[in-house]
Amino acid sequence: MDTFTQSHLTGVAALSAEEIDTILERAQYYADQLADASYRSDLLKGKTILSLFFEDSTRTRVSFEMAARRLGADWVNIDIDRSSVNKGESFLDTIQTLLAITQPHGIVVRHKEYGAPDFIAAHAPCPVINAGDSWREHPTQALLDALTIKQHKGTLKDLRIAICGDIAHSRVAASNMILLTKMGGDVRVIAPEALMPDKLAAEGVTKFHSLEDGLPGCDIVMMLRLQKERMEQSAIPSEAAYFNEYGLTQDKLALAKPDALVMHPGPMNRGVEIADDVADDPHRSLILKQVANGVPVRMAVMDLLLNKP
Ligand code: NCD
Repeated sequence: MDTFTQSHLTGVAALSAEEIDTILERAQYYADQLADASYRSDLLKGKTILSLFFEDSTRTRVSFEMAARRLGADWVNIDIDRSSVNKGESFLDTIQTLLAITQPHGIVVRHKEYGAPDFIAAHAPCPVINAGDSWREHPTQALLDALTIKQHKGTLKDLRIAICGDIAHSRVAASNMILLTKMGGDVRVIAPEALMPDKLAAEGVTKFHSLEDGLPGCDIVMMLRLQKERMEQSAIPSEAAYFNEYGLTQDKLALAKPDALVMHPGPMNRGVEIADDVADDPHRSLILKQVANGVPVRMAVMDLLLNKP
C-alpha cells in the first residue's frame, strides 16, 4: 500500500520517510516507462497545471512542463516578467486573478520570498508544489537527487554524503540535508566560514571547513553554485581563490572513496566550484542523470498529489 497523505508539497520537512519512499518508487516506475521516449499517459488528462516562476529557471521549469505533458495535463505558463505584477498589483490579487482565469488543478511555483508557496497554498483550492523558495526549500530537487543516488548506490541509508559550497544561501542544500538525514544518511556540509549558516536545516549534520577534512570516506560529493544574487556583499575574496580551496578537482575528489560519485544541481559555474574534467567525468559525474531524473520525479509528485483517492 502506498503511503502519501500530503495536500501540497512545499518542503521535504513535511514528508515522512515512508512518503519519500512512496515518491521515489513511483518516480522509478516513471523513469522505467520513460526509457521509451514516446511514453504518454492519460493520468492527468483534462487537468490544468499553472506554472508561476517568479525567478529564473531552466531545468526545473522545463522538467515540470515535460512531466505535466507526459501525464496528459494542460500546462499554462505565465510569463511573470510581462504580467501586471509590474503595474503595482498586489501579489494576492495577481494570484487570485490567475486562479479565476485558469481554474487550475495544480500549481507549480518558484519565488524569491521565503514561504511564498505556503502563502499561495493557503489561498488556492488545489495542490501547490514548491519549485524553490528563497534559501528555504527546493523539495523536488532533493527528491530527484535521492532517486539518482538510489539508482547508483542502491540505498540512501548509511551513505556518507558531503554537500560542499554555498550552504548559507542554498535551498538545495537545505532540502537535501533534511531528506538525506531522514533517510538514514550520514550527511556533512563543507564551506568557508562566510558561507556556513550558524544553524543548519537539519539536526545531525556535521560541519567542515575544508575539503581535506570533509571528503574522506564520502560516497557522494555534492557541489553547489555560489549564489551571488543572494549574498549581501561578496562573501568570498575571489573566484580563483575560492576554486583553489573549495573547487572540486580530480586531486580533491581522490580524498573521497575510490567509487565516490559527483553531483551538482546546476547551473554550474565551471572553474569556480568544479573543474571541467570532474564535471564531465563519465565514470564519476551524475550531473546529467540528475537533470534527466527531474522528469520522472515531478511526474510522481504531480500524480500523487493530483490523483489522490
Ligand atoms: C538551483 C535553484 O534554483 O535552486 N537550481 C536548480 O533548481 N537545479 C540551484 C541554483 O540556483 O544554484
